[in-house]
Amino acid sequence: MCYDDTDGAFGRQSPSPDALSRRAFSRLLLAGTSLAALSACAPAQSFTPSGTPGSTPGPTPGMGGGTPTSSPSATPTPATSSAVPPSAAARPPSAAAPGPHHSLSDPTSPWVIVNKHRPLSPATFVPPDLVRPAVRLATSGEAALLNSTTAAAAEKMFAAAAAEGVIMTLASGYRSFATQTATYGSYVNSRGRAEADTASARPGHSEHQTGWAFDIGDGSGADAFTPQFKDRPAAMWAKANAHRFGFVVRYPWMLHKITGYFYEPWHLRFIGTEVAKDMSARGIGTLEQYFGLEAAPAYL
Ligand code: DAL
Ligand code: ZN
Repeated sequence: MCYDDTDGAFGRQSPSPDALSRRAFSRLLLAGTSLAALSACAPAQSFTPSGTPGSTPGPTPGMGGGTPTSSPSATPTPATSSAVPPSAAARPPSAAAPGPHHSLSDPTSPWVIVNKHRPLSPATFVPPDLVRPAVRLATSGEAALLNSTTAAAAEKMFAAAAAEGVIMTLASGYRSFATQTATYGSYVNSRGRAEADTASARPGHSEHQTGWAFDIGDGSGADAFTPQFKDRPAAMWAKANAHRFGFVVRYPWMLHKITGYFYEPWHLRFIGTEVAKDMSARGIGTLEQYFGLEAAPAYL
């Protein structure tokens, strides 16, 4: 089902989403803005009530397909909190996560949750262990960097994809606070602030700045950073297999009212194999749901 939207930005997509999507594209092209330059994010996307036009995938099953009102408690409940044992009903799925538990706030933690309600602290955080992974690159400079844990997992995942004949490229990895400032600013200039906020994080609010996330391409450039990328082999392979290597598709289809962003089939986030596999097995679509955090559709 489609989310009831009363808070503005997403609602402006609803009257004629396909037309709006085309207009957004046209505006982008008219502005002479290359999608590659705006490599962070998605153009405006269309959402239909139950809808899966063409081959568009439906909502993630299980909890992932729920509405915001069915999301867990609005009170963040860090998995590591042990002062008062929560009741079974209040326990987030992460309470039963296998393996070691980690901080949800420390940007060096594999479980750090960054969204519109949870800015990075410090805002100008720089990962201490940035490295260039040995994968096929479609970018250079800082964007070719990841933190060392994510880089190692990416190398395994890209190799596994290649072994199955699927080309996957690293299109955009680490992004500094300064770069995110420029990227977000480009979106605002071309689309306006409300629409920019559906696709690009404000500086200090991007997972790319943690080194735990990156965007993939498929080497052809076709459909890069567009909703249609979901049908490219690299995206389909990642959706089916990324959890085996510790990654989740961070901004799934139709869960923008929880994540704050429209579907980004190219944006992968390392969260560890235990959590990624557990989320996949239980059909949980977002990190917010898994960790019992409030939905973050908009900035506070
Ligand atoms: N496109 C994602 C939300 C980012 O800018 O980090
Ligand atoms: Zn991304």
